[in-house]
Amino acid sequence: MCGVVGVTGNPNATEILVSGLEKLQYRGYDSAGIFVDQPDGTNYLVKTTGSIADLRKKISPEVQGTAGIGHTRWATHGGVTIENAHPQFSSDERFYLVHNGVIENFQELKDEYLQGAHFNSQTDTEVVVQLIDKFVKDGMSTKDAFNQTLGLLENSSYAFMLMDRNDPETIYVAKNKSPMLIGLGDGCNVVCSDSIAMLNVTHTFLEIQDGDVCVVRPNEVIVNDPTGAEVDRETFEVSVDPTASDKGTYPYYMLKEIDEQPNVMRKLSAKYLDQVGQPVITPALVEKLRDSDRIYIVGAGTSYHAGLVGKAQLEKLTGIPTEVHVASEFAYETPLLSEKPFFIFLSQSGETADSRQVLVNVNQKHLPSLTITNVANSTLSRESDFTLLLEAGPEISVASTKAYTAQIALEAILAKAVGEAKGVAAAQTFDLKGQLAVVAQGMQSIVDEKNEIDQIAQDYFVQANQAFYIGRGIDYTVSLEAALKLKEISYVHAEGFASGELKHGTIALIEPGTPVIGIITQAGTAGLTRSNLEETAARGAQTLSIVRQGLARPDDTFVIPDVDELLTPLLSVIPAQLLAYYTSLNKGLNVDLPRNLAKSVTVE
Ligand code: F6R
Repeated sequence: MCGVVGVTGNPNATEILVSGLEKLQYRGYDSAGIFVDQPDGTNYLVKTTGSIADLRKKISPEVQGTAGIGHTRWATHGGVTIENAHPQFSSDERFYLVHNGVIENFQELKDEYLQGAHFNSQTDTEVVVQLIDKFVKDGMSTKDAFNQTLGLLENSSYAFMLMDRNDPETIYVAKNKSPMLIGLGDGCNVVCSDSIAMLNVTHTFLEIQDGDVCVVRPNEVIVNDPTGAEVDRETFEVSVDPTASDKGTYPYYMLKEIDEQPNVMRKLSAKYLDQVGQPVITPALVEKLRDSDRIYIVGAGTSYHAGLVGKAQLEKLTGIPTEVHVASEFAYETPLLSEKPFFIFLSQSGETADSRQVLVNVNQKHLPSLTITNVANSTLSRESDFTLLLEAGPEISVASTKAYTAQIALEAILAKAVGEAKGVAAAQTFDLKGQLAVVAQGMQSIVDEKNEIDQIAQDYFVQANQAFYIGRGIDYTVSLEAALKLKEISYVHAEGFASGELKHGTIALIEPGTPVIGIITQAGTAGLTRSNLEETAARGAQTLSIVRQGLARPDDTFVIPDVDELLTPLLSVIPAQLLAYYTSLNKGLNVDLPRNLAKSVTVE
């Protein structure tokens, strides 16, 4: 993963790098560093383990310079140490390199070319900078050495920025699989993993492609394609409301983002459904989907879970068989495809490497695809045939909340559009606009019950070392998401389980006091899930329930408002999001930045 930034031609280089890294912390936050070449010829390298705030504290206010590179790390090769933080540098400290990605054959390169060389770190990246240095010492120019080294990297992903202290205004850039953009400023240029890092410098970005190698100077950007030919790449403008990323008075982004969900529902409804509730979706997209014989939804983590709900909606409202796949599995164990497949990529960030690899394969086969994402101009959006934007506003907390519910609502709208085009009665009679209004109101009533949920978190979850969410059908898919939320931010080991499956082995794990939460929103399976919940209570579990109003009993823990059964995940997930939040908070953890994680997973 990791985030990279670079700037050349700006006297505020240090501040631009550090504030850029602050914006990229979602890509990894275990260590960070910058390199700035100063006008007096001295170089300035500062690295730290910990956050960008720690880096900022270490930077001397006197540092001046117009060009530099920076990095925020999510460790892949080598532990979290100062030595392994980037920038990495060559032994004679002439070359400095930052890298987002993974060099698969770094050990082979080290053995073949760098026998006897002294290494400072355990990173795969250091091999690359040492190789460049070696080739320059063998007589090559820096650019040729960079190209030569890139040519030796096998099956690797990278976004590189290289600086040569003998040519301090130039940044050499290369990209393969990992995201990288060049921002065009006035007398200065910047480079970054995500435009959000550099919006204080420019809103105009150049889209560079896999295999491109670029030279960036204050007044020029030269892009060479993989054949070596100089090419013009298209520019695009990025407009983002900078206040949308403010935390306001909230202690954590996650709570703010949970609270924003009712409004996201209203925004989606206003954008994608007209006054009378008819879907407003590009006709060409609806046609392609209508004519497909099977839909393949691809995603990772929470987005995969949103896809599981989408399958139920698409099958019921369109009649088109739909499969949902974990991206990292699908890329290398591709199932037999139907004759007219259509691919839907779900990705909050639009940058997830696992999903992107599937899209690369899909594009090679010239198959049609749609990306549903929260980030306009993201890699998946640019590379698929169609994009639908989630309009959820920036999601900054590592744990995804509003993107999940936005994905589910948008899948429902898409399913209705395609179902209507196919003349499916269930789609034609589905009052989605009315139902989304009920959802928004229902979400509001749940988020207004925070104190009660906080108390339940304290009573049952803070001391727990394991917990289970159980349900059937669509409720089972929400169980998976609910358990993921709890695990990732509160470190309570949690599992989402098909409630009927529990007794086939896993029930052995239930101990006195183990919290087991039944999700019960579907009339057809409510009684069965209740029985399964009772079975765990009989073995000492502390049972709780999230139940739809029409199916509720007086002793249910959370009663969510009645809504169409295809939309219940939009409500049943909210108490689970809040339970995870308050468990983490009451354990004194950093809710927004849980250990070992990153928001955008740009390595496979
Ligand atoms: C969990 C979470 C992750 C992401 C996953 C995919 O809260 O956020 O599981 O859902 O890494 O990310 P996107 O949706 O950006 O492709």
